[in-house]
Amino acid sequence: MSRRRKETLHELGLTPIWHRRADSALEKSAPSTLASDQSVSKVNAAKAVINDREAQISRMDWAQLKATVAGCIACRLCESRTQTVFGVGGEQANWLFIGEGPGAREDKTGEPFVGQAGKLLDNMLRSIQLRRGEGVYITNIVKCRPPNNRAPEPDEAEQCRPYLERQIVLIKPKLIVALGKVAAQNLLHSNENIGNLRGMLHSYADIPLIVTYHPAYLLRSLSDKAKAWEDLCFAKATMQSLLAQ
Ligand code: URA
Repeated sequence: MSRRRKETLHELGLTPIWHRRADSALEKSAPSTLASDQSVSKVNAAKAVINDREAQISRMDWAQLKATVAGCIACRLCESRTQTVFGVGGEQANWLFIGEGPGAREDKTGEPFVGQAGKLLDNMLRSIQLRRGEGVYITNIVKCRPPNNRAPEPDEAEQCRPYLERQIVLIKPKLIVALGKVAAQNLLHSNENIGNLRGMLHSYADIPLIVTYHPAYLLRSLSDKAKAWEDLCFAKATMQSLLAQ
């Protein structure tokens, strides 16, 4: 074997080259099996912690859930929030509206949708004879304000998911309305855009779900207001047929 080839093999960590194949396989497999066993058990331990957290949240009543959300430090959003924004409305509401995450005004007041987008949401509700708090519950995918009004990161939404799931189980809404892309994509585990998701009846944990535009988007894009109106009419008609069942 040439010196150059020996040097190359050495650089690649393939020397000494005279080991029998079986020996070198044994030598290499023992420590790496140990290492992979250790990382598998670390992953399993982490999974157990996550499952335990989810299991605890899934048993909470309203008071426990609110207190747990208020003290949540499960993701980086806790570092920049003023307070958590849990949700507002009737705790047995038929309608559940889910937005993306609190903005600056919501972070200050602790109530979802109180800024400009919130005013538009209130008008949207009024247009189908609904009012905040009366048979309507409003919350968000994440309970803390993402800095600079950015969209929540997937890991942030994932940490908040058990809270939203518990809220939904406790409320038992007849219909969920996902407001905007972030809410729709998270609830439906989809990458589709709003244009493809709206106009049809989806389901979330066996609860009918309708997608419409986020009020903040509608403030910037007046041309889509007509489509949002169609969505609201569709939601109203769906609710009527659900109540008639
Ligand atoms: N946008 C949202 O998605 N949620 C709020 O609570 C406010 C603005």
